[in-house]
Amino acid sequence: MDSHTRLSPNILVLLVMALTFIPVTRAQVFAKNGCPTHCGDLTIPYPFGTMEGCYLNKNFYINCTETADSFKAYLAYTDFIVIDITMEGQLQILTTVARDCYSAPRIPVMRVPQIISLSPFSIYNVSNTRNKFTAIGCDTYAYLYGFVGNKSYRAGCMSLCNRFEDLVDGSCSGFGCCQIQIPDGLKTIDVVAYSFNRHVNVSDFNPCSYAFIVEESRFRFSSGYVQYISEDYKFPVSLDWVVSNETCVEAAKNPSNYACHRSECHEPDTGSGYLCKCPDGFYGNPYLPEGCLGIDESKETEYLLSEPSGANAQGNDGSPSDYDSGRQQIILQGR
Ligand SMILES: *[C@@H]1O[C@H](CO)[C@@H](O)[C@H](O)[C@H]1NC(C)=O
Ligand SMILES: *[C@@H]1O[C@H](CO)[C@@H](O)[C@H](O)[C@H]1NC(C)=O
Ligand SMILES: *[C@@H]1O[C@H](CO)[C@@H](O)[C@H](O)[C@H]1NC(C)=O
Ligand SMILES: *[C@@H]1O[C@H](CO)[C@@H](O)[C@H](O)[C@H]1NC(C)=O
Ligand SMILES: *[C@@H]1O[C@H](CO)[C@@H](O)[C@H](O)[C@H]1NC(C)=O
Repeated sequence: MDSHTRLSPNILVLLVMALTFIPVTRAQVFAKNGCPTHCGDLTIPYPFGTMEGCYLNKNFYINCTETADSFKAYLAYTDFIVIDITMEGQLQILTTVARDCYSAPRIPVMRVPQIISLSPFSIYNVSNTRNKFTAIGCDTYAYLYGFVGNKSYRAGCMSLCNRFEDLVDGSCSGFGCCQIQIPDGLKTIDVVAYSFNRHVNVSDFNPCSYAFIVEESRFRFSSGYVQYISEDYKFPVSLDWVVSNETCVEAAKNPSNYACHRSECHEPDTGSGYLCKCPDGFYGNPYLPEGCLGIDESKETEYLLSEPSGANAQGNDGSPSDYDSGRQQIILQGR
């Protein structure tokens, strides 16, 4: 019970009351009362929501659109498909691949960039700890252009090889695949792929150069990528989010917008802004007034601090692997 000594008296009273309530499941406190908890397979925790009244503000709007065979969750008013949301300030989106392709049977000759544009005041950042700038090909170099604050930034990655048989899956050391870190606070990302020699010496197995930002833990280099990555293929990119760019102290001054109800405010290491978390010994959704659950260890059951909120799914037949084709230009504006 040591961890409970740090709770406010308010929470302690609620905990005692809660022990008389019925056990609940975690799903019941994901969303606001009467709001969908899912879009296809994607769980949508408040402050995110798919309908007016279900999200905290428009930055957290998820556009859940039904397509012929599934549901697609678009981030706010963008073309980014969302595949994962955590209440700890992370969110995964899908993006297309920059490519530079040369003459080969059935592969169109083209150069297409990957653009991820974030306004300076966006609550979202491209995570510099979880993503890597990646280039793939055997006659390949690629640029990453962007801005860090008001400073322009440019980096490059180069990848060469002679024979398909020599490529090593899982290795990105500049031989078929090159990977480098990206800087903190990078906005307005523009990735462009090039070739040194139009792939003439490697065209039988590698007609294109590819480049993209990708979440490192969800990407493993395969020699198959050198042969071809289809135009509608999308890789996951991991974003950081905060409730707003205010500090906890600033945010608490405005109770009507403050998001941490019966939960604790904290400022993430990734930069300015704040997030909420349940007090020690509780878990659940810290953004809902009734979102934090306690655990009665003696009875091995879970109890809610207050009334459970309703939950109903908005379709459950979508698949996160069901990557949709889309535009390359992706713009996230702060509101
Ligand atoms: C939601 O996404 C669909 C499909 O991309 C689009 O047609 C629609 O305009 C979007 N709605 C809003 C409010 O952005
Ligand atoms: C860029 O930002 C720094 C600090 O934020 C400021 O001192 C500098 O004047 C800015 N430069 C331009 C060109 O806006
Ligand atoms: C491509 O092959 C030609 C002929 O073998 C060689 O002269 C040239 O250096 C090669 N170019 C590259 C970029 O490997
Ligand atoms: C926070 O964002 C608002 C716009 O949403 C902006 O006007 C303000 O300057 C930002 N504050 C900081 C400290 O970045
Ligand atoms: C994004 O990065 C900038 C610069 O490091 C930082 O000030 C900001 O708070 C970060 N935002 C998030 C959501 O992590």
